Amino acid sequence: MSKQFANVNTALPGPKAKELLDRRHNAVPDGVSYGTPTFVESAKGALLKDIDGNQFIDFAGAIGVNNVGHSHDTVVGALQEQAPKYIHTGFNVMMYDSYIELAEKLADLSPGRFDKKVMFLNSGAEANENAVKIARKYTGRQAVVSVSGGFHGRTLLAMSMTGKVKPYKYEYGPFAPEVYHAPFPYNYRRPEGMTEEAYTDELLRRVKDFFITEVDPSQVAAFIMEPIQGESGFIVPDKKFVQGVYELCKQHGILFIADEIQTGFGRTGKYFAMDHFGVEPDLVTVSKSMAAGLPISGIIGRQEIMDFANAGELGGTYCGTPLGCRAGLAVLDVMEKENLNARAVKIGEKVMDKFSTMYEKFDVIGDYRGIGAMCALEFVKDRDTKEPDKDMTGRVLKEARERGVIALNAGIFDNVVRLLMPLVITDEQLDEGLDILGEAIEAATASVNV
Ligand SMILES: Cc1ncc(COP(=O)(O)O)c(C=O)c1O
Repeated sequence: MSKQFANVNTALPGPKAKELLDRRHNAVPDGVSYGTPTFVESAKGALLKDIDGNQFIDFAGAIGVNNVGHSHDTVVGALQEQAPKYIHTGFNVMMYDSYIELAEKLADLSPGRFDKKVMFLNSGAEANENAVKIARKYTGRQAVVSVSGGFHGRTLLAMSMTGKVKPYKYEYGPFAPEVYHAPFPYNYRRPEGMTEEAYTDELLRRVKDFFITEVDPSQVAAFIMEPIQGESGFIVPDKKFVQGVYELCKQHGILFIADEIQTGFGRTGKYFAMDHFGVEPDLVTVSKSMAAGLPISGIIGRQEIMDFANAGELGGTYCGTPLGCRAGLAVLDVMEKENLNARAVKIGEKVMDKFSTMYEKFDVIGDYRGIGAMCALEFVKDRDTKEPDKDMTGRVLKEARERGVIALNAGIFDNVVRLLMPLVITDEQLDEGLDILGEAIEAATASVNV
């Protein structure tokens, strides 16, 4: 296949990258991981160039940060206009209009036809921490429920709410108290012979039991979940499950928090993935693609809940910086003008179509799934036993990388390849990237069979 975009001339790391990698090993701890053994020179749209002149098609988007693509002209323009005026005044010292405008727009676009308020923070973990803080203040309750397999960040409470031990929690206890983990469905791995519907009913029954065996609902401030689990491998729950949990929350005065940090801003073909489930969360946390790479996050919530905290109880030095807010407004502008929600649907159709062909061809693929452009492949040693194949997943990603496609792993068992390509990717780039992914699977399976 002739390649127009992916162009890797050197073994990775190339000579320049190798030198920097040595310096990195001396200067940066290994706990800060890296997926690609090279360093970026420039990035635009869905393409990345490294310092050795290699070019990659980006199927990772900085882990779901670049839905509008790298260095989109509109975002760059907004930053260039803002930076000379003022970089940071501290919203709690001297306010600026972009914070208000972004808050108004997000309140408008997010699920729920009720009055909302919005506040900004710096990272996804910080948004989740603060959402729980607000929920505790409002309800006067202490407990928080998250779900098995959920990922909410690396700070103490966010890590405590995360439902996967390695690498996020292992040897990092003690964890924050009053955090409980409820079951979450994993349809591909449901008991053999059980229909999806019966499985969903069974899981909902288990959540009800959980409120008997683990924590009384009257003590619970909030129930937090991702609409579609990101780090755990793009696990899509049944609509009935999400609605059932939401109804239980309403019944017991528990606030429902949707962590839309990975699913938001068009990834699933809608601004917010909760819109697929017909649920109106009390609080929504956002980050990643909301500002195309500027470190900003937010909480969108029902007005009466958001207003419960007193002045000075919420916020932080850099929360909602002018550059982040301007980038956020530029992202919303691009999403609307370029119709990126519709584009995500089209990308998803193409990806799922290719995935179905790959599934026919490679029996190391146990499952492929997704909503919109949030699509993943799950690798197994055997389709009958569904034994996860973490090694194969690593090999596929390496083969893809060496051919010029950067994708990400995920999964409770680290056996999932997930795609988070910029939604501005062209059809030609997408086709080429998917063809390379197919070649990578072929090479990875061939290397096992020799
Ligand atoms: C669903 C979800 N929540 C929270 C986070 C944490 O965000 P951050 O790394 O910005 O703290 C992530 C990051 O991957 C995420 O995917």
